[in-house]
Parts: sequence; structure tokens; C-alpha cells
Amino acid sequence: MEKTKKIAVMSGKGGVGKTTVAVNLAVALAAEGYQVGLLDLDLHGPNVQRMLGVSLPPSEGEKIVPAKYGDSLKVFSLAMILQEGAPVIWRGPLKHKAIEQLTRDVEWGDLDYLICDLPPGTGDEALSTFQIIKPDAVIVVSTPQKVAGDDVRRAINFVKRLSGKILGLVENMSYLVCPNCGEKIYVFGKGETEKLAEEFGIPLIARIPMDPEVVSLSDEGRPAVVYKRGTVIEEEFKKIVEKVLSL
Ligand SMILES: Nc1ncnc2c1ncn2[C@@H]1O[C@H](COP(=O)(O)OP(=O)(O)OP(=O)(O)O)[C@@H](O)[C@H]1O
Ligand SMILES: [Mg+2]
Repeated sequence: MEKTKKIAVMSGKGGVGKTTVAVNLAVALAAEGYQVGLLDLDLHGPNVQRMLGVSLPPSEGEKIVPAKYGDSLKVFSLAMILQEGAPVIWRGPLKHKAIEQLTRDVEWGDLDYLICDLPPGTGDEALSTFQIIKPDAVIVVSTPQKVAGDDVRRAINFVKRLSGKILGLVENMSYLVCPNCGEKIYVFGKGETEKLAEEFGIPLIARIPMDPEVVSLSDEGRPAVVYKRGTVIEEEFKKIVEKVLSL
């Protein structure tokens, strides 16, 4: 994986759309013809598998053959080898080992990009990811409310402390378009992500609107970048892809 560009998707806050961003970014990059790996590092709450509706092929030998979504996206999540609903009850050192194994024992092949979906916060998984995977860049996901801003600030400072590179911020659930009048409703407020971007001197890469269809599509394993073509969502993900390609 020497020439692979590794990108971690993180946030200080839970439920802001990290997995949604990681999954759709991976699918969009693969659609551009790159060889992409998507690694779910949310060991306690892996969601990548459901959002793509993929499962592992039968594997022989030592290595784990990852699941495939289309021709050029390989996906691995612990959810694929755990019994459904089984919790992972591990302390830090075990999680560190697991991340080492997932990097080493999964047959990723030659990848152009490895996208890592992290759990919320700056705990064991995030730290181990920095120590083992050493991401080339981090995408920080936020929503426009102040409490998200507080947590995201911590995540940005965490990356800075570890001398990581922040590619930029993605604001998710930026607004909802009223289905009746077409006006934008700023459900979580407005301006907090711009403030963060300015404060840290990092770009605000994209603004993804809130869309109830994203929820149902995700639950059905259908990524929005494929099933909502020609929408603002596709356009905004294109901006994220461009930013990643500029790395
Ligand atoms: N732009 C959006 N519009 C509507 N719903 C969204 C949007 N982005 C994400 N969601 C929904 O919000 C929920 C949380 O998203 P997601 O799982 O991607 O967040 P997360 O940050 O990875 O959460 P966690 O911290 O639990 O890992 C999901 O049900 C997802 O479908
Ligand atoms: Mg997640």
C-alpha cells in the first residue's frame, strides 16, 4: 500500500454523516476509475456494510478477501465477520491489534485510495489509525450547529497535534429544501462551519443538504452518489472528489 493515498473521515461528533461521506466518496472515486478501498474502522458501530449492501466472498487461505462494490471498490468492515447484532467489547490494545490486522490481513491489492471511516471522537480508534495507517489527509465532517462545532474543534486539534494534514471540512445536513415552496430551511442553523474553516484556515469543501431520501437509500445499501444523480448531492460529492484528487 505504499503508493496508496490514505484518507481518514472523522469528526468529533457522532451521527453527523461520517459514514455517509466515506461511503459516497469511495463510490464516487471508484466511478472515476480509481482502485479504491473502504475500511470501516468504527469497531463498535460498523455501518459501512449496510450502507453498501455488500458481503464478503468466501475466502481461502490466510488473507481476508474484501467485499466488492462494482469493479473497483473493495470494502471491509468488522460487521462482515461478526454475527449480526454482536457487540465488540474490546479495550484499546485489542482495538490497536485489530486495526493492524485489518490493514495487513485484508487483501487490498494495489489501491489508489484507501478511505477510512472512523468512529466519532478522538479515542483509541482514531489514535491507532494515525499510528498504524498514517493517513495522508483527513476529511472532517460537521453539521452547522454549535455543539457539533465544539466537538469538531477537538477533532481538528487532535489531527494538528498528531501533525496530520486536514484536507478540509465537509458540512453535512446544511439545509433542507422545503418540498412545498423550495426554500432552504436551516434546520441546524447556519454559519458555524464557515467559522470553523476560517478559525483554522482550512477549506470548506462541500455543503451537503439534508434529504430524507439519503436515509432510506443508505438503509437499503444504495449510495446517494449513484441513486441521486443530477442533484446537488452529486455535485457536492464531486467537489470532495476533486479535492481528494488534488492531494
Ligand atoms: N445529508 C443527509 N441527509 C439526510 N440524512 C442523512 C444525511 N447524511 C447522513 N444522514 C443520515 O443520518 C444518519 C447518520 O449518518 P451516518 O451514519 O453517516 O453518521 P456518522 O457520523 O457516521 O454516525 P456515527 O457517529 O454513529 O458513526 C444516517 O441515518 C444517515 O442516513
Ligand atoms: Mg459512522
